[in-house]
Amino acid sequence: MAALNLSLDVDFRLWPHDIRGSRAWAAALGRAGLLTAPEVSRIQQGLDRVAELLEEGRPPGVKDEDIHSLVERLLIQEVGEVGGKLHSGRSRNDQVATDVRLWGMEAADRVSAALEGLVGALLELAGQGMDVIMPGYTHLQQGQPVRASHWALSHAWPLLRDRERIRRVRNDAGVLPLGSGAVAGCPFPVDRAWLAEELGFRTISSNSLDAVSDRDWMADFLHACALAGIHLSRLGEDLVLFSSREYGFVRLADGYSTGSSLMPQKRNPDAAELTRGKAGRLVGNAAGFLTLLKGLPTGYNRDLQEDKTPLFDSVDTLLLVAPAMAGAVATARLRPDRIHSLLDTQLLATDLADYLVRKGVPFRQSHEAVGRLVKAAEDQGCSLEDLSDDTFRSANPEFEPDVRAVFDWEASVEARSTPGGTARAAVEAQLREAREALGS
Ligand code: ARG
Repeated sequence: MAALNLSLDVDFRLWPHDIRGSRAWAAALGRAGLLTAPEVSRIQQGLDRVAELLEEGRPPGVKDEDIHSLVERLLIQEVGEVGGKLHSGRSRNDQVATDVRLWGMEAADRVSAALEGLVGALLELAGQGMDVIMPGYTHLQQGQPVRASHWALSHAWPLLRDRERIRRVRNDAGVLPLGSGAVAGCPFPVDRAWLAEELGFRTISSNSLDAVSDRDWMADFLHACALAGIHLSRLGEDLVLFSSREYGFVRLADGYSTGSSLMPQKRNPDAAELTRGKAGRLVGNAAGFLTLLKGLPTGYNRDLQEDKTPLFDSVDTLLLVAPAMAGAVATARLRPDRIHSLLDTQLLATDLADYLVRKGVPFRQSHEAVGRLVKAAEDQGCSLEDLSDDTFRSANPEFEPDVRAVFDWEASVEARSTPGGTARAAVEAQLREAREALGS
């Protein structure tokens, strides 16, 4: 039972928040007339000394159940019996809910900053890829040409959305449970609104019974981390593929690749692979956490002690992978010549159909006509561009010699000039928009 009961290994890191919450609680008890002014300052000074002690790390040999018991024991050790007055009207139930929200608000800021670092690196890459036209893939088949900037930005937007999600989580964490007691509230006239303000919460909880077991913000946090992990994993997958010999679109810096212990030639994209791997863990934490909550009866239940393991792990994991990916992206180089050599003229098949549409041919017929051209090129073992004028005309009489102008990568991306498209002006506007979003 003792081994099962312990949570100090996991919750030790809450100590600064426990101290902060306890200092504020002592002050609130003083304001409510439960503690004299000298008692408040003795307790607060004692807490400061406990903080100095804990700053050194977890004291060796301590057997306390959790961080709350440890801080209280050390406080009483420092200031004597008066320390035992601190827990008046408070329960570890509202205490832990408060501590972990304080931790969560800070963690949300750190995660946001880490995501911003990666978005910044992607925007740099986008700035370099404006003149590089690469295949845009659907079904992992070459679809239509896009600017490399457009590809880099396609990874920045999901991460900007992740940052917004994390900001919402921070906001939701800002509801103060302290003053809810174990289940029914506090019998002493503590000023909860003052406490909220003192501790940086935006508001106070409305129902003590709900407040001690509400972990909704945490579920959102874990979901936001899982989704960010998925976005990082997809970016990682692109980097793994694109840095392979078969693609060769990007070269990853040595610092973000590793060799093989056996094959001397290897440059493995480990940063990207490890990031992709960590996504499974982030998804698992979110799924496991929801399972933990399911079916809990009203009020605080000890099961909730298990909330911190996935929460801390997901935040630690994201804070590990996001900066590594930021470094990998910041030091990656596009390889324009290689990218160009892999552009297949079939990427322009849609542009050929669009050519006919501009001449009034219904799109369905245009699509079929170009399908015939694709087949002809395949039969003749040549590229679309090499088909004769006659072949074009026999596919559809509206094809005229000016169709040759379609075989121009730049013209193809420039044709898509609506917002969100691949034309230079549209991509430059998109990059400005992303920079603004990042700075906001
Ligand atoms: N270590 C506990 C947790 O993390 C603190 C609350 C304990 N409450 C209790 N009634 N035993 O949830």
